[in-house]
Amino acid sequence: MRRDRSRVVSSPFFFPISTGSTSLTCNSLVDEITFKLAEEAKDAPTATAILGPFFRADTPYRQNGDNIVVTKPKDGEMAYMHGRVVDFDTKKPLVGATVEVWQASTNGLYEQQDPEQIEFNLRGKFKTDADGRYYFHCLRPTPYPVPFDGPAGKMLQAMDRHPFRPAHIHILVSFYPEKYDNM
Ligand SMILES: [Fe+2]
Repeated sequence: MRRDRSRVVSSPFFFPISTGSTSLTCNSLVDEITFKLAEEAKDAPTATAILGPFFRADTPYRQNGDNIVVTKPKDGEMAYMHGRVVDFDTKKPLVGATVEVWQASTNGLYEQQDPEQIEFNLRGKFKTDADGRYYFHCLRPTPYPVPFDGPAGKMLQAMDRHPFRPAHIHILVSFYPEKYDNM
């Protein structure tokens, strides 16, 4: 599997980011091809997605119920987000799974891009509770454009594509089986 993955990543679809691979979703295509290989496995995982450039591994933990909106934009609307992490096969809750979330502000910028936002604004790590649940307050996600100038913008315009991404929030869930004593 690893050998196949390397082959896919080195395919002509894998552009350097500076040429607009993120904007043109070429990296998503590579991810999709890779996942098709992974889903052939007996314990096929949840569908993957690209990590993106704005993830921060040093994001601090917050308590369930906390508000990740430290710097609130004037046009921002609050939202309450919650979910539950369960075992794919048994459907039992995964207690103590890590749920990392990050989102852009209404101006389309993540905190490390925007000097007006406090560090770690609109992001946080949460641990699932005894029922596998996580919950927090955030901004209602809003659509935002990717940079429309430079090579990526020129390619998008040549393809008659608009620069907007749909409203979204990023979530990365991780869980370590050696700590799993709830089955
Ligand atoms: Fe994003």
